[in-house]
Amino acid sequence: MKQLRVEADQPYTVHIGSGVFDLFADAYRPLLDAADRIVVIADERVAELHLQYLMGFLADWDIRVMTVPAGENAKSVETFMACHSFLLSENCSRNSLLLAFGGGATGDVAGFVASTFMRGIPFIQLPTTILAHDSAVGGKTAINHELGKNMIGTFYQPKAVLYDSKLLTTLPPGEIRSGMAEVIKHAFISNEEWLAELLSIRDFADISQEDLNRHLEKGIAVKAAIVEEDEFEGGVRKYLNFGHTLAHALEGHLGYGKITHGEAVVLGMSYALLLSGHEKLDEFIRWSNANGYPLHLLREIQFEALLPYMKKDKKSSRGALNFVLLEQTGKPFVEKVEELHASKAYGKLVLQIGEVI
Ligand SMILES: NC(=O)c1ccc[n+]([C@@H]2O[C@H](COP(=O)([O-])OP(=O)(O)OC[C@H]3O[C@@H](n4cnc5c(N)ncnc54)[C@H](O)[C@@H]3O)[C@@H](O)[C@H]2O)c1
Ligand SMILES: [Zn+2]
Repeated sequence: MKQLRVEADQPYTVHIGSGVFDLFADAYRPLLDAADRIVVIADERVAELHLQYLMGFLADWDIRVMTVPAGENAKSVETFMACHSFLLSENCSRNSLLLAFGGGATGDVAGFVASTFMRGIPFIQLPTTILAHDSAVGGKTAINHELGKNMIGTFYQPKAVLYDSKLLTTLPPGEIRSGMAEVIKHAFISNEEWLAELLSIRDFADISQEDLNRHLEKGIAVKAAIVEEDEFEGGVRKYLNFGHTLAHALEGHLGYGKITHGEAVVLGMSYALLLSGHEKLDEFIRWSNANGYPLHLLREIQFEALLPYMKKDKKSSRGALNFVLLEQTGKPFVEKVEELHASKAYGKLVLQIGEVI
């Protein structure tokens, strides 16, 4: 078991490894004992697979469970309201505690519920996906509006993150791919050697549990360091959006759920690497192809179809296209890119992908 402190406004610890749930009855016993009600908000699929396991560690308390739709469907106004209704019907108060059990989607909605129920109650993140090494740290919560993803939300830090890597063994390949995209993103923006190690992976199924834990720890450390420096995204936190301008456009254009977030981020990173003139582009294209990321979509989708989404991106200002680029590995910066240049670069990327794979 490893642990990592996040020195946000309200500091907290991320515990990683198998056996972290033992901490309920140990380091976090006072927090649980102090709560007048404890409610688990669980992704329905995760509940099917792992709720019994979780409850085994919570036997000392009277726990109420609310399941929410699996994945992105949980991030709706309806689910948000249903959670509040549940908390009220269970007579929860300001002294109640929430446990968010699922991937990034469940964490986002449960965190938003925690931050708004009676103006805020404590919550603990219990992430169950690889991607959630990113989403469970940093305190961004959100639900979606029909006009845009993550448009309604808060900054609200959890009391702790208990990340039991044993739960990751049931993830389907697409979700492993999605999560590993954010892992390699963290490497791109921080560490050449770690990046080289990740780029040598040709099949995620070959990663040992031990190595996966190490990659997750490193990813969390990168995220935590950036969040500590810039909790409310005024500056360096934008670097975490490496690959995301195009990714969000792809997700928007294709319709949410057609491609996982991480798959879109990999395509977006290849584009950002081309815009950056980064030496690792070809190697990254080969890595992406070997690991099953859908690079072919870039050939099938016209730049013009993506442009309106990129202009609407939260990070863009006054219609200009803003990208996080890499001067070199570990040295990200934000740059404004002219539309014409962006369009030509897209065409070039499509050609380059055709040549490399
Ligand atoms: N708050 C943040 O800072 C932040 C950062 C990145 C992403 N996000 C958000 O995270 C969400 C994506 O999260 P995600 O990729 O974790 O996916 P997710 O929560 O949507 O879950 C994906 C799928 O995996 C299933 N699943 C989850 N854990 C499982 C397990 N252990 N075994 C088997 N199946 C499991 C879920 O039921 C779901 O079908 C997006 O909504 C995104 O906006 C938030
Ligand atoms: Zn992301």
